[in-house]
Amino acid sequence: SPVPVVAIDGPSASGKGTVAARVAESLGYHYLDSGSLYRLVALATIRGGVTDDAAIAAVAETLPAEFVGGKILLSGADVTDAIRSEECAAMASKVAAIPAVRDALLERQRAYRQAPGLVAEGRDMGSVIFPDASSKFFLTASVEARAQRRYKQLMEKGLPANIDSLSQELSERDARDAARSVAPLKKLPDAVLVETSDMTVDEAVRFVAERIA
Ligand code: C5P
Repeated sequence: SPVPVVAIDGPSASGKGTVAARVAESLGYHYLDSGSLYRLVALATIRGGVTDDAAIAAVAETLPAEFVGGKILLSGADVTDAIRSEECAAMASKVAAIPAVRDALLERQRAYRQAPGLVAEGRDMGSVIFPDASSKFFLTASVEARAQRRYKQLMEKGLPANIDSLSQELSERDARDAARSVAPLKKLPDAVLVETSDMTVDEAVRFVAERIA
């Protein structure tokens, strides 16, 4: 039988990253943070001053990224924190709308499907990358709750943050992710909806864990 996949999709700061990592850990499964790949392409693009779509797709094709011991490396340099900036997030959602970029990252993502199983998190895990996933979830929360969470994360890292501009940026990014023609962000009919606005992380993890097929 195929290696089981738990697909967790949803908008930015919905809590899906934390929840997916915790669920993967509790199951002893591998974990794919697919957004980090788009963020890496974005960072390489910004740093390289690359602007046209074909050149950005070439960056994605040859992305010199490594995941070692919880660190994310780009050309051997630690970019774990650098890819979390709002600038990088905004550029990630732009490069993610280029079909050739998504194609370039397809096999790289599918390669994470290894025994005993995989928890994969992003926007199109259940729709495009792992359409045969054994369990699919759509995690979401109100814009206010998500902006509040992102604000807390940034403050904890000592990074500058402003609630109003975060709300604005989240809304713009979600609109772009939902409106694009390739792999738009949307809840699939076969995905379980998880509304996390009023849930703690523990509650969301339990809610998901109890519904894994
Ligand atoms: O999840 P995260 O906020 O790190 O993703 C950054 C951006 O990467 C998203 O706004 C989205 O545009 C893009 N993305 C995507 N498909 C995925 C994961 C992320 O298009 N599977």
